[in-house]
Parts: sequence; C-alpha cells; structure tokens
Amino acid sequence: MIMRRLFIIGLAILTILLYGRSQIIAGTATPHDSTDALKPVYCNDCHSVHKAQGTSLTNESSNENLCLFCHSATGIAVSKPFNKITDQATPNTSGTSHRWDRSIAAGVAPLNLVAGSADNPYGLRTSSEISNTALTTQLAKFNNVVTCSVCHNQHAQSNTPWDPNAPGSGSGRHFQRLTNDLNQMCEDCHYYRTTATSGTDVRAYDGKKKSHPVVKDLTADVDATQFIGAAPLEPNYNPQTTAPRYHQNGTGDTNTTNNTVLDSSSKVRCMSCHGIHYTDSDSSTTDSP
Ligand code: HEC
Ligand code: HEC
Ligand code: HEC
Ligand code: HEC
Ligand code: HEC
Repeated sequence: MIMRRLFIIGLAILTILLYGRSQIIAGTATPHDSTDALKPVYCNDCHSVHKAQGTSLTNESSNENLCLFCHSATGIAVSKPFNKITDQATPNTSGTSHRWDRSIAAGVAPLNLVAGSADNPYGLRTSSEISNTALTTQLAKFNNVVTCSVCHNQHAQSNTPWDPNAPGSGSGRHFQRLTNDLNQMCEDCHYYRTTATSGTDVRAYDGKKKSHPVVKDLTADVDATQFIGAAPLEPNYNPQTTAPRYHQNGTGDTNTTNNTVLDSSSKVRCMSCHGIHYTDSDSSTTDSP
C-alpha cells in the first residue's frame, strides 16, 4: 500500500522532472513556484525521485527541516524565517509561534477531554475525533505531529485564510490546508474551546482553565453595560474601522498587528486574539519576522 502510494507520487514527480516543469499537480501556487525571478521555487527544490529522505519523496528527513531549509536566516525565504529553538511557544514563558513539534493524542478520548480539565488545558481533540479529513490525512503522514504541512498545503493557495488583508487569489493567502476564515482549522483541533461544547461562556471561579467566549457579536450578544459598541478600540480608545471586520486603524495608532480583527459577521473568533507566527504578545510593537 505504502509502496504503491510512493510509486504513484514518484511517477508524478518523475514526470515533472523529465518533461520540464509542466505543472502536473495543477502546479504549485505562487510564491512556491518559479514566477519570482529572485526567489524561484521548483518541484525538485523540495522533492527528489531517488534517495529522497522524507515522506512523499521530499528532500529532508523531516517536514520541519524541509520548510526551514528555505524559511531560515540563510534560506531564500529569509523574509519569513523560523527558528525551531526560540520561536515555538511555551505558554507564559517564551516563543512567538504556534508549536510545530507537538503531537495530537491518538485514539478516542483517552484523556478527560472536557473544557477546564487540567488534563487538557489546550482543549484538544484526539486524532480520531478531528473531523476534517484534510487534517487527519496529514496528521497520519506525520505520526500525529502538528507539523508545518498539517496546517499548510505548500502547493495551493485555494483556501481562504483568516488574514483580513489577504488577496482573493494567489500569493499572500498563506497556503492554508483548510479554509480558516472562521477559524475552522483552529476549532477542529481545539474543539473543547468552541461553542460546540460547554467550554465557552464559562466563568473561571475554581482556578481551572476555562475558555473565553467565541462567536459573539460585540453589540448584539453582550451586556451593553459592559461594552462600548461594535468596533473594537485602538489602545488610544479610538475605534478601529472598516466593518464588518474592523481590521483597519482608527486615528492615532498606525499598527495593524495589534488590532482585534473580527470575522465577516463581526464576531469574535480565536484569531481575534491569537496570532500564529511572529506574535510577540506586546501590543505596543508591530509583529513581524
Ligand atoms: C515547498 C516545497 C514543495 C514544493 C515546491 C513542491 N512540493 Fe510536493 N510536497 C511537499 C511536501 C512537504 C509534501 C508532503 C506533505 C504533503 O503531502 O503535504 C509533498 C507532497 C507531494 C505529493 C504527494 C501528495 C499526496 O497527497 O501524497 C505530490 C504528488 C507532490 N508533492 C508533487 C509535487 C510537484 C509535481 C511539485 C511541483 C509542481 C511539487 N510537489 C512541489 C513539498 C513541496
Ligand atoms: C497550527 C497550525 C500551523 C502550523 C503548525 C504552522 N503554521 Fe504557518 N500559518 C498558519 C496559519 C493559520 C497562518 C495564516 C495566519 C493568518 O491568516 O493571519 C500561517 C502563516 C504562515 C506564514 C505566512 C506568515 C506571514 O507573516 O506572511 C508562513 C511563512 C508560515 N505560516 C510558515 C510555516 C512554517 C514553515 C511552519 C513550520 C515550521 C508553520 N508555518 C507551521 C498555521 C500554522
Ligand atoms: C525551496 C525554498 C522553499 C521551501 C523548501 C519552502 N518554502 Fe515556503 N516560501 C518560499 C519563498 C521564496 C516564499 C516567499 C517569501 C517571501 O515572500 O519573500 C515562501 C513563502 C511561504 C509562505 C507564505 C506564502 C503566502 O502567500 O503568504 C508559506 C505559508 C510557506 N512558504 C510555507 C512553507 C511550508 C509549510 C514549507 C514546508 C513544507 C515551505 N514553505 C518550504 C520558499 C520555500
Ligand atoms: C492539527 C491540530 C491543531 C490545529 C489545526 C491548531 N492547533 Fe493549536 N495546538 C495544537 C497542539 C498539539 C498544541 C500544543 C499542545 C502542547 O504543547 O502540548 C497547540 C497549542 C496551541 C496554543 C498554545 C501555544 C502553543 O503554541 O503551544 C495556542 C494559543 C493555540 N494552539 C492556538 C491555535 C489557533 C489560534 C489555531 C488556529 C489558527 C490552532 N491553534 C490550530 C494543535 C492544533
Ligand atoms: C478574547 C480573546 C481570546 C479569544 C477569543 C481566544 N483566546 Fe485563547 N487565550 C487568550 C489569552 C489572553 C490567553 C492567555 C491566558 C494566560 O496567559 O493564561 C489565551 C490562551 C490560550 C491557550 C493556551 C492555554 C494556556 O495554558 O496558556 C490556548 C490553547 C488558546 N488560548 C486557544 C484558543 C482557541 C482555540 C480559541 C478559539 C476557540 C481562543 N483561544 C480564543 C485570549 C483569547
């Protein structure tokens, strides 16, 4: 089974290598293609037909090393670098990026998987509970480790990201494995922090970790005495602008990386508060690599 799969993948890649760089998997999308004269990327930058070190005939022994080959201080994707030691988050301690070296537990609910349980502070599901096959297929390839190619499809820009400034197609859509405009990807794994469970709307009174409410509209769904209105505010108390997502700056603050961005229905989602990479948790600075 595995050999046959490898053979088919090998055939696809061999075809590419033999017949030039015609794009057989409907090609890779920019910027992982050869359209940028300064930073061209070809299939065989990531794949080899012989002596391939990684799964799917990739060039490095791990998915992380493959991505970091270019996404590092010395690689061609130096403008979006990652450091596997310093960047990955240890909550409350350090890091600026979602981890890419941790596993999802296998099997069916071996843990006490309820929101607030000290056994499951991240509110994660197990690999057999995660519902989207695009995620479960990738997790199976990488021993359930949530590595780069679980959240990213490095070949395609078709899925819509959360990023409110992403274009409608092409470069800048962050190669999402799943459509994530409503944080579908986050919620599938971190299920016990979503509205599908009793994990949200829980007040923490007993010292255990509970969840901030999500999928709430700041005007319609809340106690009006507690909130000023629909638009989240800048640090200087001027409202952010451009409904429904309120992702642009009001007057005074020029930093868009500290904005509280809402979804297309002006509701709060995970990524209203959380960033994924290059997030320093300091609203007075601009988040960038
Ligand atoms: C930026 C690196 C990169 C580039 C460029 C790239 N690939 Fe891949 N490819 C990967 C990785 C990593 C995997 C394994 C993980 C996965 O399936 O996403 C993979 C998997 C595959 C697979 C197996 C898919 C599957 O479902 O098992 C095929 C076929 C493939 N690539 C063909 C190509 C072809 C053809 C090109 C050029 C048009 C190309 N790749 C360019 C990184 C790359
Ligand atoms: C848990 C899921 C997850 C993992 C693991 C992950 N990413 Fe991401 N990454 C995302 C999401 C989601 C975005 C888009 C954020 C947005 O829409 O604002 C993103 C964005 C990016 C960007 C664009 C950032 C920018 O500022 O333009 C790069 C580059 C990137 N990821 C590379 C990687 C690499 C390389 C790895 C592994 C070392 C990795 N990612 C691991 C989810 C992930
Ligand atoms: C052969 C070099 C190379 C490899 C290997 C590589 N990348 Fe990239 N990647 C690039 C370049 C070049 C860019 C564009 C950087 C820039 O904007 O300057 C890029 C950009 C990206 C972006 C942002 C694209 C956007 O439209 O927002 C993501 C996400 C990304 N890579 C993920 C990955 C992942 C995941 C892997 C590993 C599977 C990987 N890359 C491996 C060269 C590479
Ligand atoms: C494929 C499953 C998966 C997806 C998708 C995913 N996460 Fe995670 N997340 C994890 C795992 C596993 C950990 C690490 C748990 C640990 O450290 O033991 C984690 C950790 C975290 C943490 C704690 C800091 C850290 O990085 O360790 C935050 C915050 C977080 N995730 C938010 C998000 C958000 C927001 C999204 C959506 C963009 C997301 N996650 C998507 C599996 C996932
Ligand atoms: C209103 C803002 C907000 C929203 C919305 C939000 N979070 Fe958080 N989240 C936070 C803050 C602040 C922390 C850090 C709490 C701390 O330091 O103890 C946190 C911590 C976490 C952690 C790490 C837990 C730990 O032990 O430190 C995870 C995982 C997480 N959030 C996932 C999510 C997911 C998944 C969603 C969407 C379903 C979400 N969050 C929605 C603000 C938010």
